[in-house]
Amino acid sequence: MSERNTILEIEGVNRIYKDKGKRVEALKDINLSVKRGEFISIIGSSGCGKTTLLRLIAGLDTPQAGKLLLEGEEITNTDPKRGYVFQQGSLFQWLTVEQNIAAGLKARHIYKENKERIAEYIDMIGLEGFERAYPHQISGGMAQRVAIARALINDPEILLLDEPMGALDSFTRADIQDKLLELRKASNATMILVTHDVDEAIYLSDRIVIMTPRPGKISQILEVELPHPRHRGGTEFLMIRRNILEKFHLASAMPEPEYRI
Ligand SMILES: Nc1ncnc2c1ncn2[C@@H]1O[C@H](COP(=O)(O)OP(=O)(O)OP(=O)(O)O)[C@@H](O)[C@H]1O
Ligand SMILES: [Mg+2]
Repeated sequence: MSERNTILEIEGVNRIYKDKGKRVEALKDINLSVKRGEFISIIGSSGCGKTTLLRLIAGLDTPQAGKLLLEGEEITNTDPKRGYVFQQGSLFQWLTVEQNIAAGLKARHIYKENKERIAEYIDMIGLEGFERAYPHQISGGMAQRVAIARALINDPEILLLDEPMGALDSFTRADIQDKLLELRKASNATMILVTHDVDEAIYLSDRIVIMTPRPGKISQILEVELPHPRHRGGTEFLMIRRNILEKFHLASAMPEPEYRI
């Protein structure tokens, strides 16, 4: 039996890709237990299996060995209860901001009874006045906020975020990071974020999962016990950063203002 406040359990998961005789061991023996309302970041170098892991949690893919359990039930399919925000360009270009956010509700035939909530979410992401705008008429940061709202309006128990801020400037990123924390507080959704930005991971997470590549394994899980709001320049913050960067042998790059793995 799973612990009462455990929402997601990943047990002994392996994912091997076979492509034209080539075999890529993308994930090997992944074990992770996530609590309801927890904010988890996954960091690791390119190709270490982060997207593969998110796709498994979303139910877009299945493992060769092991299992993924959501509230004790094996994940076999996608479900609006697991929202997925892709890296970029995931909005429907032919729909307005409002219509993009409503898309999931319409697909589930629960639009009418939830209509008023659309304005609430537009307000929450600070896009009042842009309801009728099309994706090409808003900025990249605004589009990402719409993508996050589009996932959140379905009340996902888990929000999966695959580098949703990777392409954004650091000011917009900081803004969305704060929005995510606000949204989590308001909805108590569990969030799992893939990021290459160590500061972002420390700023947001309860725990940081560090992965090693080929085969992708969890090398360490780090608890971040700092209270919110966190100060990016604070002593403890910097110590955690140094600790993580040392694991990636990047500590010598300390004077730089921002780190990307
Ligand atoms: N559909 C696929 N077919 C074959 N190999 C794949 C497939 N998808 C991913 N891989 C391989 O699996 C490994 C993990 O890929 P994945 O996309 O999960 O990495 P990632 O950690 O998300 O990388 P990045 O940080 O660059 O996004 C890589 O070696 C990749 O080439
Ligand atoms: Mg990826």
